[in-house]
Amino acid sequence: MPSPASPQTLLALLDIELPIVQAPMAGVSSPAMAAAVGNAGALGSIGVGATNVASARKMIAEIRERSNRPFNVNVFCHQPARSAPVVEAAWIDRLRPEFNRLGAAPPTALTEIYKSFLEDDDMLAALLADKPKVVSFHFGAPSSDRVQALRNAGIVLLGSATSVDEARTLVAAGVHAVVAQGYEAGGHRGVFDPDADDDRLGTMALTRLLVRELDVPVIAAGGIMDGAGVSAALRLGASAGQLGTAFIACPESQADAGYRAALVSAAANHTVMTRAISGRPARCLANRFTAFGAAIPAHEIPAYPIAYDAGKALNAASKSAGEPGFGAQWAGQGAPLARSLPAADLVASLAAEMKAV
Ligand SMILES: Cc1cc2nc3c(=O)[nH]c(=O)nc-3n(C[C@H](O)[C@H](O)[C@H](O)COP(=O)(O)O)c2cc1C
Repeated sequence: MPSPASPQTLLALLDIELPIVQAPMAGVSSPAMAAAVGNAGALGSIGVGATNVASARKMIAEIRERSNRPFNVNVFCHQPARSAPVVEAAWIDRLRPEFNRLGAAPPTALTEIYKSFLEDDDMLAALLADKPKVVSFHFGAPSSDRVQALRNAGIVLLGSATSVDEARTLVAAGVHAVVAQGYEAGGHRGVFDPDADDDRLGTMALTRLLVRELDVPVIAAGGIMDGAGVSAALRLGASAGQLGTAFIACPESQADAGYRAALVSAAANHTVMTRAISGRPARCLANRFTAFGAAIPAHEIPAYPIAYDAGKALNAASKSAGEPGFGAQWAGQGAPLARSLPAADLVASLAAEMKAV
């Protein structure tokens, strides 16, 4: 029997050939990307955390039209937002000058723009009906009855952890493998409680800690951009590497022109952890929005995803004014290493680079 730390255990569990996971990226990854990655022998993923059941089912069907390989469907397990009308009204007032500068008006009220999987029975029913090979959790662990229902349907479960405690919670809840998300990672930090102290562990330390502490396979994520990075993660005892930023510039990605241009410019050298865009810490290319949010204390920003309602409106206003810079341009610290290759070619390059190492 291979040990949990042997990549073979994870590859067999996921039914893939390469120890590479294309990260779920809500709003950026796509069914075409997940299918291309799956057909190339790695695990492709879609993020449905920011969408509804109808669109999630459509995305799953689109992958199946293009591939019969396994794929991962990712959901958000954040604690449902508690509305704080005073904070939200003050936030709208604070953003008003930015909207006005762009010739737009801010929203009059903010809403919780999408539901947490913790309370989304329709999404659970859809996943149980559609049975993707893999489902993954970000921002927390669902209740044990939800986990059990997914396990009973034969679905392999992954969860993101940024600390040993979060990883232990995920394993106790019943996930089959844990994604060790280091501070270098692009996009939302998977912290379960965004208001708790954060040790900000890097991918290398977190991977080693989880490999030592857990008896399930560990997938390293954060700053991995090429085959050398995946090989380094395997040397640390991870069973695979999960790469997000590496796939943003692929033609299959949904990133818009401004985001792609920023990623291949000098701007890629500067990423910032910001809470101002969505209400939760996320690593973003330094832009006008991250600069605006830099000095704002966390308690003055509405809860996730209520703040994101305003963030998306500001981005839309800035795009229509032809003045980009307010986008959620999530990216990890390895951003300057991103390549504009088709997803299948990127996976083939990663595999070749791993062999060369
Ligand atoms: C654009 C973008 C969107 C992301 N969206 C999600 C998501 O929807 N769900 C999720 O679990 N992780 C998401 N992540 C985080 C990734 O799962 C992963 O932790 C991260 O990409 C790894 O770091 P890297 O970007 O340096 O490769 C996102 C990351 C990026 C860059």
